[in-house]
Amino acid sequence: MTRDLHNGMLSSAGHAEFGLRERVKELTCLYGIMEAAVRPGTALEELLNNIVNLLPPAMQHPEIAVGRLNLDQHSYTTKNFRESPLQLAADIIVSGRRRGNVEVAYLEEKPGIESGIFLKEEQSLIAAVANHVALIVERRQAESDRSRLQHQLQHADRLATIGQLAAGVAHELNEPLANILGFAQLAKKSPGLAAQTEQDIAKIVASALHAREVIRKLLTFARQMPPTKTQIQLNKVVEDGLYFLESRCIKQGVRLICRLSPDLPDITADATQLQQVLVNLMVNALHAMPNGGRLTVTTLAGDSHVLLGVEDTGIGMTEEVKSKLFTPFFTTKDVGQGTGLGLAVVHGIVTSHGGAIHVESETGQGTRFEIKLPLMEAEEI
Ligand SMILES: Nc1ncnc2c1ncn2[C@@H]1O[C@H](COP(=O)(O)OP(=O)(O)OP(=O)(O)O)[C@@H](O)[C@H]1O
Ligand SMILES: [Mg+2]
Repeated sequence: MTRDLHNGMLSSAGHAEFGLRERVKELTCLYGIMEAAVRPGTALEELLNNIVNLLPPAMQHPEIAVGRLNLDQHSYTTKNFRESPLQLAADIIVSGRRRGNVEVAYLEEKPGIESGIFLKEEQSLIAAVANHVALIVERRQAESDRSRLQHQLQHADRLATIGQLAAGVAHELNEPLANILGFAQLAKKSPGLAAQTEQDIAKIVASALHAREVIRKLLTFARQMPPTKTQIQLNKVVEDGLYFLESRCIKQGVRLICRLSPDLPDITADATQLQQVLVNLMVNALHAMPNGGRLTVTTLAGDSHVLLGVEDTGIGMTEEVKSKLFTPFFTTKDVGQGTGLGLAVVHGIVTSHGGAIHVESETGQGTRFEIKLPLMEAEEI
């Protein structure tokens, strides 16, 4: 600071120079923030750390200035940060909601430093920094929302394309398969067949029936098996489904926990198809717990929907498995153990009911599937 040696006051030239230097420091800080914000590939945490370190140099006494930036549950501080009564702060408001604040503080009392020491310009600077941070947070959120949405759309698109392809193939195969099955059953009735021939024909029939089942599943996935919807009670569907699987749970050392909401409204849905959803999810859960565990089935009422939850304490899934879950024929099971159509069928049924599937899974911890079904009759999507 330039001072007049005779009276200790700033000369007017000194005033101008001091003011200019302070402005340059503030502009450098704001420029630094903008530069950091547009640098591609910087994580938000790194960016906020950079910003907080730009604060002290912008202050009148950088050598004793410290900074802290609070955002949601996180704090970003300069290295030597300590709370101090000499502090200046501004709120970070994102979309009308306070998400945190930006603080600067002076660590020690200097001669001539007291509260109210901060310049008016410094107050505006901190407010401007808080505004910038709010804008950055808002933009980052919009970007991540957009990319998540895009990812979901791509996934839905891919599944729809596979669905069309699968349905085409399934229809093409249906007719020859019906012929194979019909003629094999006819041949089986021929008098005087050798025992071996009879056995062979029985194998043809069994294989054709298996193929027919695969085709049926593919058509359900492709939503070409339209549901027959009536007013139903989801709890009843669950109770009926559990009845089939209870003994299998016991045999496998799996504890079955059932939490059904007592005041669940009726929904318009196909009971048989929903039972298929439950059974497919429960069978997967049982497969994931070969050494026992806990299987929890829940129902819950929401405002405009009901929820069906199936949760296990099994092996869980990797991110890669999770990303391929609903694709037909995707399986991690051995040949003969799984066709990879269970979840494709679940997807087809839930989508044709206008519902949604949410999956959470942690390897070694377990998996939770949540099916959301609308109360009102689903419009065709
Ligand atoms: N609860 C779960 N825990 C861990 N992995 C799971 C779970 N549910 C599904 N998976 C994984 O997703 C894959 C696909 O499941 P999906 O039900 O579609 O086919 P599948 O069970 O392999 O065969 P299918 O159901 O046709 O007999 C499974 O092979 C498994 O890797
Ligand atoms: Mg399965």
